[in-house]
Amino acid sequence: MTNKIAVLPGDGIGPEIVSEAVKVLDCLQSEFGLAVEMESGLIGGGAYDETGSPFPDATRDLARAADAVLLGAVGGVKWESLDISIRPEKGLLAIRSDLGLFANLRPALLYPQLASASTLKPEVVAGLDIMIVRELTGGIYFGQPRGVRTLDNGERQGYNTLIYKESEISRIGRVAFDIARKRGKKVCSVDKANVLECTELWREVMIDVAESYTDIELSHMYVDNAAMQLVRAPKQFDVVVTSNLFGDILSDCAAMLTGSIGMLPSASLNEDGKGMYEPIHGSAPDIAGRGLANPLATLLSVAMLLRYTLNEVPLADQLEQAVNQVLDKGLRTPDIYTDGMNKVGTAQMGDAVVDVLREAAK
Ligand code: NAD
Ligand code: IPM
Ligand code: MN
Repeated sequence: MTNKIAVLPGDGIGPEIVSEAVKVLDCLQSEFGLAVEMESGLIGGGAYDETGSPFPDATRDLARAADAVLLGAVGGVKWESLDISIRPEKGLLAIRSDLGLFANLRPALLYPQLASASTLKPEVVAGLDIMIVRELTGGIYFGQPRGVRTLDNGERQGYNTLIYKESEISRIGRVAFDIARKRGKKVCSVDKANVLECTELWREVMIDVAESYTDIELSHMYVDNAAMQLVRAPKQFDVVVTSNLFGDILSDCAAMLTGSIGMLPSASLNEDGKGMYEPIHGSAPDIAGRGLANPLATLLSVAMLLRYTLNEVPLADQLEQAVNQVLDKGLRTPDIYTDGMNKVGTAQMGDAVVDVLREAAK
C-alpha cells in the first residue's frame, strides 16, 4: 500500500529543512522500497500571502486525505503585525485542531556525541532520555472566551481561558501511561494545582487514570519546580505529561539539554494514530535562507512518522542509526558545533544522512 504524505514546508527555515527530509524519504523509496506518495501544500505566512489564509482549504483537504503530514515551521517578522486570527501560527493551531492531534510527543534524547554541545555539564545530561507528552488541542491555546476588551474606564484588558474537560485530561493521561509502560514505567504529571483550579482537576484526573496502570509510578510536580528540575537533574524524568502551554515551554527547555533545539523532533497524533510530524523549533528567521539550520530534528521527525503512522519500525531505526553515524563522523551544523568537529550546512548534513542510508542499503 502506498501511503500519502502531505508535505508542508512553511516559512523561514521550513523549506530548507523539509527539503532534506524529502531527500531522505526519496532515498528510503529508491533504496529500501518504502512506498510513499508526497504532495506539497501551503501553510503559515506563505499560505497567507498567496491565499489570504494561513490554513487554506486546499491544505486542509490535502492533510485530511493524507496518512501523515510532515511540517517544517511557520511564522516570521513579516506577518507579526497581522491580526492574530490570520497569523501564520493560527494556521498551525488550525491544522492540529482540524486533524484532532491531541497527543504531542516530544522526545528529548541526548545523542552521546553531543554531550559537550549542551550548555549543561556532560554528566548532568549523559544518558538523557525523556518523553514529554504535551496536550495539543485544548487548554489556554483554544479556550473561550479570549480577546482584548475595553473597560468602562477606557483601559484595555486582555484575557484568555485555561479550560480542560475531564475527558481531555484522561485521554492524554492514557497516552502518557501507555508510553511509560514501554519505557521506564514512570509518569510525572506537571501542573500548577497550587494556584489554578483547572490544573487541580488535571491532577485529580491523572490520579484516577493511574488506577488502571498499577505498574506505573505516578508523581506530580508544579511547573515552576519542573522547569528547575529539568536543568538541575533532568535524568530523574521518564515520561512527563502536561498541558498545552506548559508542554510548549518545557519542551524548548528540554531541547537545550540535548545540545540544541535543532535536535528535537515531534509527533502529534489523533485517536487513530494519524499524525503530523514536525521539529519542535520555529522558523528561525535569524538564520533562514543561509543554509545554517540543523535539519536533524526534521529528519528525526521523519523517523517518528515511519515509526508511529507508517509502522515501518525497522526503517525508523535505520534512519535514527544514520543520524547517529553522521554525528559519529563529526559532522555538526553551527548550533551543535564544538571545537575539532567538522562544521557543515543544512544540505551537507542531509546529504551525509542519505549517504549513510545508501551505504546501509548495499
Ligand atoms: P525559533 O525556534 O524559530 O528560534 C529560536 C532560536 O533557535 C533562534 O536563534 C534560531 O536560530 C534557533 N533555531 C531554531 N531552529 C533551529 C535549527 N533547526 N537549527 C539551528 N538553530 C535553530 O523560535 P522563535 O525565534 O521564538 O520564533 C521564530 C518564529 O517561529 C516565530 O514566528 C514563531 O511564532 C515561530 N514558531 C513556529 C513554530 C512551529 O512552526 N512549530 C515553533 C516555534 C516558533
Ligand atoms: C510549537 C510552537 C507553536 C506552539 C506555535 C508556533 C503556535 O511554539 O510547536 O512549539 O506554541 O505550539
Ligand atoms: Mn514552541
